[in-house]
Amino acid sequence: MKRTSVGDIKNLEGKEVELAGWVHARRDHGKIIFIDLRDRTGLVQIVFTPAVAGAVDLRLEYLIRVSGLVKKRPDSMVNDKLPNGAYEVEAKTLEIMNASEATPIPVDSDGYDINEESRMKYRYLDLRRERMQRNIRLRHEVSQFMRSYLTERGFWEIETPMLTKSTPEGARDFLVPSRLQPGKFYALPQSPQQYKQLLMVAGFEKYFQIARCFRDEDPRADRAYGEFTQLDLEMSFVTQEDILALAEDLFTKLVEKVFPDKHISQSPWPRISHKEAKAKYGSDKPDLRKEKNNPDELAFAWVVDFPLFTEQSEEDFFHGSGSAKFAPSHHMFTAPHPDDIPLLDTDPTKVRGLQHDLVLNGYEVGGGSIRIHERDIQEKIFNLIGFDEHQKGEFTHMLEAFTYGVPPHGGIAPGLDRFLFAVLGEKSIREVMAFPASAGGQISVMDAPSDVDPKQLNELGLDIKKK
Ligand code: AMO
Repeated sequence: MKRTSVGDIKNLEGKEVELAGWVHARRDHGKIIFIDLRDRTGLVQIVFTPAVAGAVDLRLEYLIRVSGLVKKRPDSMVNDKLPNGAYEVEAKTLEIMNASEATPIPVDSDGYDINEESRMKYRYLDLRRERMQRNIRLRHEVSQFMRSYLTERGFWEIETPMLTKSTPEGARDFLVPSRLQPGKFYALPQSPQQYKQLLMVAGFEKYFQIARCFRDEDPRADRAYGEFTQLDLEMSFVTQEDILALAEDLFTKLVEKVFPDKHISQSPWPRISHKEAKAKYGSDKPDLRKEKNNPDELAFAWVVDFPLFTEQSEEDFFHGSGSAKFAPSHHMFTAPHPDDIPLLDTDPTKVRGLQHDLVLNGYEVGGGSIRIHERDIQEKIFNLIGFDEHQKGEFTHMLEAFTYGVPPHGGIAPGLDRFLFAVLGEKSIREVMAFPASAGGQISVMDAPSDVDPKQLNELGLDIKKK
């Protein structure tokens, strides 16, 4: 089929074209029927005269194939607001490729006023709406830009396992039972943190991955339940300055290319110490926009000089070690500021960490740090956060790896979904994900999670306790 995209119509005046797409709108003017035909590139008006059979049968969301002639619309009928508003297609033939039931949710609106449960259940319809098509397209353009930007600068994209062991980033793990070793479990990674550090030990020097991360934590407007995506990156032989410069350049160029209508309010990005952010803005992710109602302003900032530790609260999930006084404010692989190392023994609360947070319009879009690459300091941190021998044992591989010529290294992981959510000013992070879990952890379109066959449980050596 020689199919023309709707988006190309404006360059094809006077030409015969063949289009395929969905009936987005239908206006019946007696003898003449107007259809707005939609494909992923846009809308175009099709004019059906009585000479073309079948047009009266068309309903919303029917999938049709139309051949016809591209014509300029009379001046008085031109719609400047639509990309194809100056053109229409005079239909010659029509084929209904696939009829459609009346859809349970409308797809021709922005969708904000439809209840989310229905939107999630019929996500494949919900995603047809223009706003969602745009969001998903921009997501593709963002990840594509990141890939080529980093590849051009010598980074290698390396995948790391999903079936792995817990990497504590402060949330609960998702566990996957092992069939071959009944009673044992994999954990889905909360981030590729340990693997990316091991890749530095392995000598890859510059790594990135558009990485899926899994965290069982309560969702919020800017926090997805279950899984989300990071641009995870790590470099050897770098200072914190190198990481900030790279990320700042990446996002600046990314905005120019993918979001040309947006403007960055301050360049270079302001750098604020954690202390100053708290004192001046009452937040470690301040919203520095000059004009909060301007949807096109992007106020990026770096927050640095975090304390290495926070006081560990009773209910702190972090390691389940109730006796410890300290929890890492980022994660336990973040290096202490070299000037503050003696304070680890005397006053750990005063130790600054080489952590950096990337903030955009009041959201924490990324976090990272220079890492510890020396075994004795890593062990000291484990002790300070109250690891017992068993817990330390869970990280033997890291401690051992740190004995074999480890380069100094560090990195950052901006959240892809979080960035898109902030840049687009969306109402919820779910608006930039194709198939997000609902707030209750349901993937409604597939009805997951679901019961499993008792045979499967048996094979895994599992019994379900009735609550
Ligand atoms: P951190 O835990 O700070 O660091 O996460 C980095 C970024 O990931 C995004 N993010 C999320 N996005 C959506 N939903 C969530 N539930 C969610 N949780 C986190 C945020 C956040 O800034 N391994 C370290 C990174 C490093 O040190 O290099 C880490 O994961 O945008």
